[in-house]
Amino acid sequence: MKSLVLLLLLLVLSIIALQCLVGTSRACHVDDETSLLSFRSHITHDPSGMLASWMSGTDCCIWEGITCLHSDRVTALGLFSQTDTPDRFLSGTISPSLAKLRDLDGFYLVNMRNITGKFPTSLYGLPKLRYVYLENNRLSGPLPNDIGKLGTRLDVLSLEGNRFTGSIPSSVSELTGLTRLNLAGNLITGDIPVGIRRLKALIQLELQSNQLSKPIPEIFSSLDQLRYLNLSRNKFAGKIPNSISSLAPKLAYLELAHNTLTGQIPSFLGEFQSLSTLDLSWNNFTGALPQSFKKLAGISNLDLSHNSLVEPFPVMNAKRIRSLDLSYNNFHLGKIPDWVTSSPNVYSLKLAKCGIKINLTNWNPKEAYFYERIDLSENRISGSPIPLLNRAENLVGFWASGNRLSFDLGKMRIAHAMYDLDLSRNSVFGGVPSSASELRSLNLSRNHLCGRIPATGFPASSFVGNDCLCGLPLPAC
Ligand SMILES: *[C@@H]1O[C@H](CO)[C@@H](O)[C@H](O)[C@H]1NC(C)=O
Ligand SMILES: *[C@@H]1O[C@H](CO)[C@@H](O)[C@H](O)[C@H]1NC(C)=O
Ligand SMILES: *[C@@H]1O[C@H](CO)[C@@H](O)[C@H](O)[C@H]1NC(C)=O
Ligand SMILES: *[C@@H]1O[C@H](CO)[C@@H](O)[C@H](O)[C@H]1NC(C)=O
Ligand SMILES: *[C@@H]1O[C@H](CO)[C@@H](O)[C@H](O)[C@H]1NC(C)=O
Repeated sequence: MKSLVLLLLLLVLSIIALQCLVGTSRACHVDDETSLLSFRSHITHDPSGMLASWMSGTDCCIWEGITCLHSDRVTALGLFSQTDTPDRFLSGTISPSLAKLRDLDGFYLVNMRNITGKFPTSLYGLPKLRYVYLENNRLSGPLPNDIGKLGTRLDVLSLEGNRFTGSIPSSVSELTGLTRLNLAGNLITGDIPVGIRRLKALIQLELQSNQLSKPIPEIFSSLDQLRYLNLSRNKFAGKIPNSISSLAPKLAYLELAHNTLTGQIPSFLGEFQSLSTLDLSWNNFTGALPQSFKKLAGISNLDLSHNSLVEPFPVMNAKRIRSLDLSYNNFHLGKIPDWVTSSPNVYSLKLAKCGIKINLTNWNPKEAYFYERIDLSENRISGSPIPLLNRAENLVGFWASGNRLSFDLGKMRIAHAMYDLDLSRNSVFGGVPSSASELRSLNLSRNHLCGRIPATGFPASSFVGNDCLCGLPLPAC
């Protein structure tokens, strides 16, 4: 009896084992294996051996980067790297054989850096494709006019960081299932096609760092799911389009920096209840910031620098502000605004050339612990930064050139965290502390310093124009 049970058990076990064997040899559909081997044969250089496991006759479902979610069919091809891993890249082109991966749901080639060729139109026929991430490769040529053939089920199209040229094909408007369209960091020209207004499911639209021009079209009325809009670093001209006001309920990021936009900053932006980042820097905006900005309670990053904005500046109520840059406008703020001084989470404060006339000795922010960067250059600030620097122990950079600071530099403690210190064109006196050698950049030129310079490695232009500094890199004492 006992031996019979054992025999049965053995029989069951061997059947399971046999199934496993048969299962293994069948695990990958032959069409998918053929297609992937062709993909591999188009790769000419694979220094880190990413595709070493891609061997004919083995189960392609367990090859590196391959997923077969439900069956013997490949559902994802995903090869990823970091931009700072020197060996982990691929050279070559994308094989047209991808068209045979009938169940492919996602195609990801991220940071492969040296994959060349045109946009892979072989993806058009794939009935289940939803995710296409071809980021940071060297794909080039124009985006194909019939890119709409990727179909309405496509959820994400991300082609960031390639060398695509030409304009955005109007057929992108056929990709009505897209929640994310990212063409950032290419060489794309022309204007934004108005058909993008049909992409009603869009949550993220990223077209930054291209050469897009003309006014931004009125496409936003129907894009009411949009949370993230980045059009920075292009050549857009004209005003902020009115239809952006439709994005008030959900938009969290609005980045239009480094364009040539003009006109006033529209009052409706003050109604954007979810806005956390607003970057309008490096444009040609004029006039005053609308008083409606008082309502932007949740904003954490506000960059209006390098425009031509004027007073009056609204008294904001932005308790969550973390990063503020108002530099290089036509402001005459007089002092650092109270709502900034009393904010508990600021890590970056840039108020260069804002017409500030305070005595820094007495500026006492409510919370200095988080400060990493403070830029108060080109103001009329007097007194000493020492009380501030003693409190802001995590400060990495302090820039205050072109002010009236007057204090004994020899009494300044340079915190370990500090990298960059610019006190040029002030009235600083005393000597240079030896801890200055731990900095990454230093500028003390045009002050009233005196004495021997400690060994620092900084150039003469960091020290010239003082009363009696001497020793290298200046003439000997
Ligand atoms: C990138 O690919 C090109 C040609 O495809 C090749 O000449 C070059 O050596 C590759 N670069 C690296 C770092 O392998
Ligand atoms: C928006 O684009 C700019 C320009 O490329 C970039 O510096 C910035 O980080 C982007 N914003 C976000 C939140 O990714
Ligand atoms: C925009 O502003 C920049 C400086 O911020 C200036 O050089 C340029 O001439 C201005 N362009 C226009 C069209 O006003
Ligand atoms: C700045 O304030 C400090 C402390 O109140 C004071 O000793 C100093 O004289 C002031 N400096 C100027 C230029 O007003
Ligand atoms: C220091 O500042 C002066 C004047 O602001 C400038 O001319 C010089 O190039 C700067 N030197 C360094 C090393 O940054």
